Amino acid sequence: MKATAVAPSNIAFIKYWGVKDEILRPPKNGSISMNLSELLTTTTVEFNPDFYQDSIVVDDVQEIIEGNRVIKHLDRIRSLAKVSYKAKVISKNNFPASTGLSSSASGFSALTVAASAAAGLKLSEKEFSILARQGSGSACRSIPDGFVEWLDGETSETSYAISLYSKDYWDIIDVVAIVSTNKKEISSTEGHKFATTSPFFNRRLEINKEKMRLVKQYLQEKNFTAFGELIEAEALELHAIYLTSHPSLIYLLPASLRLLHLVKKWRKEGLEIYFTLNTGQDVHIICQKKDVKKVTQKLSEVDDVQSVIINYPSKGAHIIQKHLF
Ligand code: DP6
Repeated sequence: MKATAVAPSNIAFIKYWGVKDEILRPPKNGSISMNLSELLTTTTVEFNPDFYQDSIVVDDVQEIIEGNRVIKHLDRIRSLAKVSYKAKVISKNNFPASTGLSSSASGFSALTVAASAAAGLKLSEKEFSILARQGSGSACRSIPDGFVEWLDGETSETSYAISLYSKDYWDIIDVVAIVSTNKKEISSTEGHKFATTSPFFNRRLEINKEKMRLVKQYLQEKNFTAFGELIEAEALELHAIYLTSHPSLIYLLPASLRLLHLVKKWRKEGLEIYFTLNTGQDVHIICQKKDVKKVTQKLSEVDDVQSVIINYPSKGAHIIQKHLF
C-alpha cells in the first residue's frame, strides 16, 4: 500500500482569503488560479501494518507528529478508506517552502492523491478536491488541470475546484521573482483567522462575484491587458486587507516594493507585464510567452532578485507511481 504523486502549486488571480469554517475550510469567497509547472511537490505515502507510528519527512527533515496537519489529513483519508495502518510520508518540494510560494497547495494536493491511492480509495476529481481543501484551502485548486475555479459553496460538498481550461489554453507565464527565502512569521492558516478584522473585508466580499465574472470573461477572450490590470488590483486589495487587519500583516519587504515599482516602470516603457502577490514577499510577474526572455533578462539585472522560477500553466495533481508488493 504505497503510492507516489506529484502536484503543482498554483497562483491565484482572484485570491482566497478568509474561511467560513476553520475545520472544513470552505472559503469566504470564490477564487481563480493557474497551476504552476515548476513549483512541484512529490509525495510518497505508505500504509503498513508493521509501522507502529506515523512518520513524516518533508524536504529531508523529520516533522513533529504532535498536532501535525499532515497527520490530521491522513486520519481523514484513513477514516474514508477504513484503513487503520500507520503511515510513512516522504515529501519533497523543488522550491523553498513556507515563504509564500504556496507549498501547502502542492503539498496537500500531492498528499491527498498519494495517500488515497495508497489506501485504495477511488475518488472522482471533485471528491479529491473536497478532500484536499480540508488539508489546505488552496490545495483544492491544484487537483484539476490548468486554469481553475474554486466554487466557494455554502457547504463542504459544494466547495470544490473545477478546471476552466486545460494547461495548453493560454500561453501566459508566471515568472516568480524570489527576493528572500526567509519563512513568513504568520502563516496563511493563521492569517485567514484575521481576515474579518479588516474594516474593508466586507466590501471585498461584496465585489468578489463581479471580479470573478470579469476574470472569467477576460480569460475567455484572452484579453491580456484587461486581465493583467484586474489581477494586479486584486493582489493590492489582498495586501490592503492584510495591512488593515488586527494584528496587521505586513508581508511585503522593501525589496518586494522596489520590484512592484519596477514592474510599473517597465510596463510604462512598453513591456506588458503585471504583478500578483501571495501571503509572502515574493513577486509573481505575469507575462505572455513572447516576453519571457525580456522579463528574465531585466530581472537578472536587479540586485534584489535572488532567483527566478519560470512557470507555465500545468496539469493538476497525479499519481506517478503505484508500488506493487
Ligand atoms: C494568499 O491555502 O495557504 O495564497 O487553507 O490555511 O492552508 P490554508 O491557506 P492557504 O491560503 C492561500 C492564500 C493565498 C490566496 C490564494 O492562494 O488564493
